[in-house]
Amino acid sequence: MRIVGTGRAHPAKIVPNSEFEKFLDTNDEWIRERTGITERRVISSEQLEELAAEASVKAIEDAGLTAKDIDYIICSNVVNEYITPSLSCLIQGAIGASCAAVDVNAACSGFIYALDMADDRIKSGKAKNVLVVAAEEPTRMVDWSDRSMCVLFGDGAGAVVVAEGDGEYHSRLTTTCKVDCLHYVRRLEPTPHITKDEPSGPMYMNGKEVFKTAVLSSSRDIKQLLDESGLKPSDIKYYVLHQANLRIVEAIANWLKLDMSHFPCNVNYCGNTSSASVPLLLDELARSGKLKRGDKILMSAFGAGFTTGACIVEWVK
Ligand code: ACO
Repeated sequence: MRIVGTGRAHPAKIVPNSEFEKFLDTNDEWIRERTGITERRVISSEQLEELAAEASVKAIEDAGLTAKDIDYIICSNVVNEYITPSLSCLIQGAIGASCAAVDVNAACSGFIYALDMADDRIKSGKAKNVLVVAAEEPTRMVDWSDRSMCVLFGDGAGAVVVAEGDGEYHSRLTTTCKVDCLHYVRRLEPTPHITKDEPSGPMYMNGKEVFKTAVLSSSRDIKQLLDESGLKPSDIKYYVLHQANLRIVEAIANWLKLDMSHFPCNVNYCGNTSSASVPLLLDELARSGKLKRGDKILMSAFGAGFTTGACIVEWVK
């Protein structure tokens, strides 16, 4: 497969670190030093599906196609206001496509899982043009009175169109069940038959544990992919890594003995946008002319589950 179009959409509202100082015991310096974040874009009056549709339309236009040319839609999403229908279904309606549409939830690794499914769909000959969207609003999952959580996240949507191609593609996906570390529990409707305790509340994260696991698992995935494809770390033009924390990206760069010019970042102005962070960053690179035909890009993400996803894609647009 090859990526033939990219697009992104951000919410209009920008929340700088100073905003949190007004209602929490925190400060810009702590947030910047521990996370690299200076501001984030946060959903206010928009609906997530509007951002997802905007990113999709841009990706389809960039590919020189119309919505009618799309024959499968995969959307990576953790939460949005609908449990059903799926977000991919809402996107299909909003952009005027008429193909099948399905959501995947692999937390922050979801975009890479969705991209891999798109590759399978194309390889099997079941689709020619697949729209892969990642749309996330993690700011709706956290407690805004908890300084250790609400400062970390931002919202957004990124999309790519994938078509048949002969560019290099290698992927690696892993899942290890580890619920205690990171979870968000949804309370379902009560019934007269429910007798068990049903906890609910905002997202829980053991930050230190996630940090360690993220660095170790992403480094392991990256090494394995490089070995499998016979590449050296410096053969990769850009490492498009999940943007959870600048220190995680720096730790991986350090481990690979590469300078940060190989590691574009958007966490500083987007915050952690969950599975949207990788396609948001990819679109930024593509639109700023930084990607050249033949460049190799390594994408890698980790998230609740614990899930990890990584792939090497050759840019043949
Ligand atoms: N402002 C000021 N102080 C704070 C804040 C804040 N916003 N948040 C926490 N603190 C305090 C804590 O209370 C603690 O104080 P104490 O020492 O008096 O108890 C102190 O700062 C240190 O807190 P730690 O949690 O130990 O700080 P740490 O250096 O581990 O940084 C962080 C926390 C940023 C969450 C880090 O652990 C991290 O980035 N972890 C990974 C998170 C991640 O990758 N998530 C991604 C997966 S989830 C997803 O992507 C959807």
